[in-house]
Amino acid sequence: MLLYPEGMVRLNESAGQILNLVDGRRSVAQIMFDLRQRFPDALGWTTTHWLLSRWPMPSTGYNLKPENQPGPPFWLLAELTYRCPLQCPYCSNPLDFNQQGEELSTMQWIEVFRQARELGAVQLGFSGGEPLVRQDLEELIRAARELGYYSNLITSGIGLTEARMAAFKEAGLDHIQISFQAADEEVNNLLAGSRKAFAQKLAMAHAVKAQGYPMVLNFVIHRHNIDQIERIIELCLALEADFVELATCQFYGWAELNRAGLLPTRAQLQRAERITNQYREKLAAENHPCKLILVTPDYYEERPKACMNGWGSLFLDITPDGTALPCHSARQLPVQFPNVRNHSLRHIWYDSFGFNRFRGYDWMPEPCRSCDEKEQDFGGCRCQAFLLTGDASNADPVCAKSPHHEVILAARIDAEQATQAIDALTLRNERNARLIAKAR
Ligand code: FES
Repeated sequence: MLLYPEGMVRLNESAGQILNLVDGRRSVAQIMFDLRQRFPDALGWTTTHWLLSRWPMPSTGYNLKPENQPGPPFWLLAELTYRCPLQCPYCSNPLDFNQQGEELSTMQWIEVFRQARELGAVQLGFSGGEPLVRQDLEELIRAARELGYYSNLITSGIGLTEARMAAFKEAGLDHIQISFQAADEEVNNLLAGSRKAFAQKLAMAHAVKAQGYPMVLNFVIHRHNIDQIERIIELCLALEADFVELATCQFYGWAELNRAGLLPTRAQLQRAERITNQYREKLAAENHPCKLILVTPDYYEERPKACMNGWGSLFLDITPDGTALPCHSARQLPVQFPNVRNHSLRHIWYDSFGFNRFRGYDWMPEPCRSCDEKEQDFGGCRCQAFLLTGDASNADPVCAKSPHHEVILAARIDAEQATQAIDALTLRNERNARLIAKAR
C-alpha cells in the first residue's frame, strides 16, 4: 500500500517489489540489476531493454532507420586480462588465451568506459581471467564510478585482501561476485589447480559480507559437483549469501574441450532441480533473504536460449587486447571483429560487420527463418551453432526443430556413459594451451 496526503494506492506485487528498491540510494541501473537477480524468469532482458530505451541517455546522435537501430549496449563486460592464477577446466576463455595481443592500458580502458557510457551502457562488469591481476583495478573502478556505472567485480577471490576490498569500495565498486568450484575443499582445489584456493575464497566471502557489499556467490555446476548441491547451498547459507548462482556448465572454450567429463546426466540434473526447489520453498517460507538461481544446461532443453538477448542487442564485451565482441565466446567464430584501438565504439556497435552479422532475421536459414518462435530465441546461440555444426548461421542444435539436433541427443547419451575421472579433465593453463595449439 502506498499512502500519500491525498489518498492511497494499492500496489500489485510487481510494483511493490520495485518500489521496495526505490530507496534514494540505488540508481535506476542498480534497481534493474537487483530485480533481474531476484526474478530471473519474470523480468528478462527484453523488459530491461524496453525500460532503458525510455531512460534518458546521452544522445548518440546516430542516424539509423528506426526499424534497424539497435538499442544501447546496456551491459559492458571488460575482460581486463586473460592472466589467472587458477586453472578451471570449464573456463570460457579461448583455448589460445596465451597467444592474444597486448592488454589495453589503463587509459585505453577508461576511454572504452567513457565511450560505452556515451552510447548508453549502465552496467560494467570487471572480468578476466582474474581481474585482480591488474594493479590498476582500483583506478578503473574509480573511473567507472565517476562515469556513473553500476560496477561489478567478477572474481575467484584469489589476490583479494580485505584492504584491497575496502579500497575498491572507497573507489565506488558496487558489487563483488566470488566464484567457487565446489563446497568440498579437496574438489574445489583440484578443479582450481591450487591448494590454497578454497580457504582464500572462504576468507574473502566473509570479508565481502563484513564490508557491506551485496553477497553474490557463483558455483559452476557439472557432473563432479552436482550431487553435492545440498552441501553447496548449505555453504552459501552459512556464508550469508544474498544471491547464489548455481550455473551449470555451458560448453564454450575450455568447457567445450572437457565436455565429456563435465556434462551431468539428466537424472543428476533433475535431482539438483528438485533439491534447489525444495530449498527455495523453505527459504521463502522462512522469509529468508537468500535467492537461489539455478541455470540449467542448454543440452537438456528442446528450445534454445535467446543468447545474449539477441546478437548485438544489449551486451558488449571487450577482450584484454581490445577486440570487441557481441558475446564473450564469439572470438572462436570465423567472423572478423573490430578492435577499440582502431575504431570508435560507436562505429563498432552500430556499423561494424561483426556486430551486424547476426542482427535481425535476414541472415537466418530455415528452419529459423519461417519459425514463429524466432522473435523469442533469435535462433539460439551462434557460438553453439558453430561449435556443433560448423556453421554459425545454422539453428542452434539445442532446438528440436534443428536438422542437427541429433548432436545434442548424442551428447546426452555420452553423458550417461561417461566414466572420465575428475583428474582427467584438461586444466586451463599455458602448458595445455601450448600442447593444444601444437596438436592443431
Ligand atoms: Fe556466443 Fe551464444 S555464446 S552467441
